[in-house]
Amino acid sequence: MENKATMEKIVNLCKGRGFVYPGSDIYGGFANTWDYGPLGVELENNVKKVWWKRFVQEGENAYGVDAGILMNPLVWTASGHTTSFSDPKMDCKNCKNRFRADNIIEEHSKGKVAAEAMTNEQMEKYIEDNNIHCPVCGKKDWTPIRQFKLMFETSRGTVEGDKDVVYLRPETAQGEYVNFVNVARTTRAKLPFSIAQIGKAFRNEITPGNFLFRTIEFEQMEHQTFCKAEDAQRIYNERKEQALKFAKDVGLPENKLRFHDHDKLAHYAKSACDIQYLFPIGWEELNGIHHRGTWDLSQHEKTSGKSMQYTDPITNEKLTPTVIEYSIGVGRLTLALLCEAYDEEVLENNETRVVMHFNPALAPYKVAVLPLQKNLSDKAKEVLSKLNKHFMCTYDEAGSIGKRYRRQDEIGTPFCVTIDFDTLENNTVTIRDRDSMKQITLKIDEVAKYIEDKIAF
Ligand code: GAP
Repeated sequence: MENKATMEKIVNLCKGRGFVYPGSDIYGGFANTWDYGPLGVELENNVKKVWWKRFVQEGENAYGVDAGILMNPLVWTASGHTTSFSDPKMDCKNCKNRFRADNIIEEHSKGKVAAEAMTNEQMEKYIEDNNIHCPVCGKKDWTPIRQFKLMFETSRGTVEGDKDVVYLRPETAQGEYVNFVNVARTTRAKLPFSIAQIGKAFRNEITPGNFLFRTIEFEQMEHQTFCKAEDAQRIYNERKEQALKFAKDVGLPENKLRFHDHDKLAHYAKSACDIQYLFPIGWEELNGIHHRGTWDLSQHEKTSGKSMQYTDPITNEKLTPTVIEYSIGVGRLTLALLCEAYDEEVLENNETRVVMHFNPALAPYKVAVLPLQKNLSDKAKEVLSKLNKHFMCTYDEAGSIGKRYRRQDEIGTPFCVTIDFDTLENNTVTIRDRDSMKQITLKIDEVAKYIEDKIAF
C-alpha cells in the first residue's frame, strides 16, 4: 500500500485528535518536547505492553527492572558518559543557529560521507574545502567545532551552596548493568540471561527534532543479554532477527526496514547495527543492536571496586559476561507506527476517508460503542460497561453514524459496535471492521471474546 503520510499530516492529525500536543503549549511550547494526549498515552502504553510481552514475558530467561533516573554520578564516570557523551557542535556567527557538524556534512554530501567517523579537525577541513554555508541564513561564518555535552545536569544538596552535580540519565542501560549482580543473585539466573527496562532518558539535543523522532526527554525500551564470549555473536545475530521480527509484527512492512551496520565502532564494541525505517524524512535509525564485549561490567567493576563476575555453577569458572544490547525509543517507534498506519482512502462514493490502520493490539481504543439513535443510549451504555472491563473503549452518540465511523477510522479504532433496535429485541449488535468496513452481527455476550481474539499480540 502506498503510504500517504507526510510529517506535517502526522503532526496535524496528532495535535487535532489528541495523540500528541506540543510540550508546555500555552507558553508557546518548549523546543523538542511533546506531551502525549488521551489517544497518544494509550498508543504508547500499548507499544510498551507488547514490547514487554515479547522481550520479557515471552523472552528466554529474561527479567525486568525499574532503576532510578538519578544514579550515583560514578555510574556515568564508569560508563564514559561524563567525559565523552557529547556531539560536535558549531554555531553560525551570523544567525546564531547551532548545528551538529556531522549532520551538516552528511546532509551536504547526501549521506555519501560518514562524518561520524571524522575528527573535529577533519570535519572543519571538509566544511572549508567544500565551501559549506549555513543552511538557515546562507552565510559562511562558522565558529570552530566544539564538543557539546548531552547529559542534563542537576544538583543535590541539603544546604545552600553545598551542591553535588548529578545527572538525569541519558540512557536506561546503566540501570541494567549496575543491577547485574543483584538480579543474578536473586533470580539465580544462569548465563545467558537478559535484563530489560522501560523508562525515561534525557539528552540535551539541540538538533531539529522532527516531531517525536528526536526529543530531549524520551522513553527507552532496553534489553541487555549477559552471556559467555563464545555465545555472543550467535546471540547478537538472533537479537537482530528478533528485533526485525518485532518491528514487522507491530506493523512496519519489511520493504521499509533494513539493517545498517555502523561504520565506526566504539573501541570496546565488536559489532553494532541499527534497524532503520523509511520515515517520511528518509531512512533513519529505529533501534540499535550492539555487541558491547565485556566493557560495561568491567568498567563498573573497576569504578565501584565490587566484583561483577559470574561463577559458572558447573565448572566454577569465573568470568565477566559479554553484553548484547537491544535498545529502542518508545516515541521513535510510536512515530514510525503513526506514519505507517496513516492512509487516505478514496471510497466508492468518491469521499476520502483518513484511516489509521494500526495493528489492533496497539490501537488506542479497541472498540467504539455507537447507539444508532440517542434513545438507544441506555442500552449502549450497558454494552459499554460490559466491554470496558476488557479493553479501552470509547462512546459516541453525536452526529450521523457515517460521521461517527469516520471519526473512529481517523483514530484507528479497529471495531465499532453499533446498538440498534435489534439490540433491544434480540440482544444482538453489529460489529464494523475498520479496515474492510464489513459488518457482522453477534450476541452481546459474544462480543468481548470476539474482540479479545482479534487484538491478541
Ligand atoms: N543504551 C544504548 C543507547 O542509548 P542510542 O542509539 O543512543 O543507544 C537507542 O539510543 C535508541 O533510543 C535509538 O535507537 C532511538 O530509538 C532512541 N533514541 C535515542 N535518542 C533519542 C532521542 N533524542 N529522542 C527519541 N528517541 C531517541
